[in-house]
Amino acid sequence: MKENVQQILDHFHIEQFQHDLIHWFVKEQRDLPWRKEKDPYKIWVSEVMLQQTRVDTVIPYFYKFIEKFPTLDALADAEEKEVLKAWEGLGYYSRIRNLHAAVKEVKEKYNGCVPASKEQFSSLKGVGPYTTGAVLSIAYDIPEPAVDGNVMRVLSRIFYITDDIAKGSTRKKFEQLVSCIIAHDNPSDFNQALMELGALICTPKNPSCLLCPVQRHCRAFAEGMEKQLPVKTKAKAPKHVAFRAIVLVNEDGNILIEKRPSSGLLANLWQFPNDEHAPTADDQTFIKEISERYGVVTRSVQQIGTFQHVFSHVVWHIEAYKGEAIGLTVDIPTRKWVTIEELASYAFPVVYQKIWQAYE
Ligand code: ADE
Repeated sequence: MKENVQQILDHFHIEQFQHDLIHWFVKEQRDLPWRKEKDPYKIWVSEVMLQQTRVDTVIPYFYKFIEKFPTLDALADAEEKEVLKAWEGLGYYSRIRNLHAAVKEVKEKYNGCVPASKEQFSSLKGVGPYTTGAVLSIAYDIPEPAVDGNVMRVLSRIFYITDDIAKGSTRKKFEQLVSCIIAHDNPSDFNQALMELGALICTPKNPSCLLCPVQRHCRAFAEGMEKQLPVKTKAKAPKHVAFRAIVLVNEDGNILIEKRPSSGLLANLWQFPNDEHAPTADDQTFIKEISERYGVVTRSVQQIGTFQHVFSHVVWHIEAYKGEAIGLTVDIPTRKWVTIEELASYAFPVVYQKIWQAYE
């Protein structure tokens, strides 16, 4: 039978645990750019970037983003095109579209001031329980749990919890648990310390238990079971999709680009002509399809490489081509001929950036 949170906390030394954890964090924490000040806007941006993306990858993006949009108002007032461009390469673009919509709402409704109320903040677009807990605790010292996959790994080991962390009910249980053990006099350091422990010590494969500041509290370590935890059922295998794409150049040296639909994977980003939705069997069919769909006469087509991109539920395999296109001018807002200099101001998915590099 699964234990409830009160049973789990029997014989657990909460204050000693808080002390050991926070003492270690104060001494050993990494010097990260979003830790330099307690600006709720910047902390919010960092937490959104850090969902699904590693700290090392996030750091340069964070600097660039904050330089471009130094305040919440600056981001709220920016054009979507500019915002997507600043996010280019970070992936999971719904994160930034939601953040953009949410800061616009904060500007209008709350005078540009990130609300410190759980109800108000969590009702903003894209703001779930993790982001709510992280921003409210780190920026405003409000004792709310911030439970992500790393925190679940740490706590499943400390408390020897064998529930499947892929389930929503398990996350709720961990949130209840954190609500009971969070340090009310320092929720900011407490939550960040759990995250930091997961990143530096209590790592997925080979945790450094001998260096762990809370080893004496850890039930999995006591049983030699740390590597068996957390329990997580596997995600479904991704779907593989193969298609072709082409860099088309016209007589003026301009390049044909196309905007992706406004919903779905990589929404509103730009790409080169392709047959993503109706992959064609051979080169001739592909050329015919592209010529008809984009209204151009295509010639001198050559392959420039094959590219792969792994998303969470799908893997793309793209055969990339280059070719010359003659004829029709394009006059719909989602298709444009652009110069090479102009191309740099449009946001492209990483795999299309690679295709461009191969073309160049
Ligand atoms: N992962 C998620 N949030 C983080 C933070 N604030 N610091 C370090 N790693 C994190």
